[in-house]
Amino acid sequence: MKAYEIRGKFGLENLVACERPDPTPGPFQVRVRVKATSLNFRDLMMVEGRYNPSLKLPLIPNSDGAGVVDEVGPGVTRVKLGDRVMGAFSQAWLAGEPSRAVHQSALGGPLDGALADTMVLREEGVVATPDYLSDEEAATLPCAAVTAWSALVTHGAVKAGDVVLLQGTGGVSIFALQIAKLLGARIIVTSSRDEKLERARALGAHDVINYVTTPDWEKVARGLTKNVGVDHVVEVGGAGTFEKSLRAVRPGGTVSVIGVLSGGAATVQLTPILMQNLRVQGVVVGHRESFEALLRAFTQHAVRPVVDRVFPFEEAVAAFHHLKSGAHFGKVVVRVG
Ligand SMILES: NC(=O)c1ccc[n+]([C@@H]2O[C@H](COP(=O)([O-])OP(=O)(O)OC[C@H]3O[C@@H](n4cnc5c(N)ncnc54)[C@H](OP(=O)(O)O)[C@@H]3O)[C@@H](O)[C@H]2O)c1
Repeated sequence: MKAYEIRGKFGLENLVACERPDPTPGPFQVRVRVKATSLNFRDLMMVEGRYNPSLKLPLIPNSDGAGVVDEVGPGVTRVKLGDRVMGAFSQAWLAGEPSRAVHQSALGGPLDGALADTMVLREEGVVATPDYLSDEEAATLPCAAVTAWSALVTHGAVKAGDVVLLQGTGGVSIFALQIAKLLGARIIVTSSRDEKLERARALGAHDVINYVTTPDWEKVARGLTKNVGVDHVVEVGGAGTFEKSLRAVRPGGTVSVIGVLSGGAATVQLTPILMQNLRVQGVVVGHRESFEALLRAFTQHAVRPVVDRVFPFEEAVAAFHHLKSGAHFGKVVVRVG
């Protein structure tokens, strides 16, 4: 099989093409011929050694892949040859709260991931690809879309008329925009670039704020709600945005803590959290049950993932550089098969 692996030490310069023996599925496993994989910020952090520097190398990165089942192991009943499937982010997380075993079963670290033309997955760890989606589109869903769904639906219970604030226009935030629109929420999007804000408006954002030219975006967001505050913030910014998110949200509102784009450690004033009855909800991707609920909603409304650019397999490293540049809007994909 063909793959890319992080070899020797971390760093994009050490992400190299390789050949490995074709794997055979064991009991209750399936072999998937990967057609496409998408990149998440997590995958970049993984390659650069910023996610977990003690991970064992070599490692095939990328949590998200979509393809076709071409061999099933003994005992498999959930999936058959020729099925189009996506890998679930955590192979062992079907429902409930995440456990140590769940974290240890994440694709693209610590398990080998989808930047390969072949993957062996648990039969429980795959989800059927909806017919209306291409493999490139399907490959965008397992991490970013499920995370946005977990934040807004599984934990957030966002409802029509709620005001949802989304940070930036990367993978998680654009899926959150599409989901918030399905739910009938009012959507505020921030971005560093005006042209991306216009694209967010075209996708359904009601209000947009450039967080570079308007560094006090949290005040503007409050102003848009007659100073009540927004109901829900999808917090992907991390250390540089968290306190502002606390100030943007209404009393009793929710901040979904998801990302660390501007750092993972912050000094935080605790008093506003308790004085305002705020709900600070950590979100780690999501279980298969959430993935399946998301797929039902997307299929019902024929929601198409926003694919920024598709790179050929030979240019996978360039795809990572593109993600790192922050020029993208939505998802960056690598075509594999
Ligand atoms: N907890 C989880 O389970 C989970 C799951 C998925 C992702 N994440 C985390 O969520 C974050 C986003 O992931 P992703 O894959 O969606 O990333 P991505 O596609 O690379 O999105 C990056 C975008 O975020 C925006 N951004 C960067 N710095 C920002 C800041 N300081 N304030 C506001 N927006 C900022 C930029 O958008 P503009 O160009 O529009 O400014 C940038 O293009 C990452 O930290 C990732 O690790 C966590």
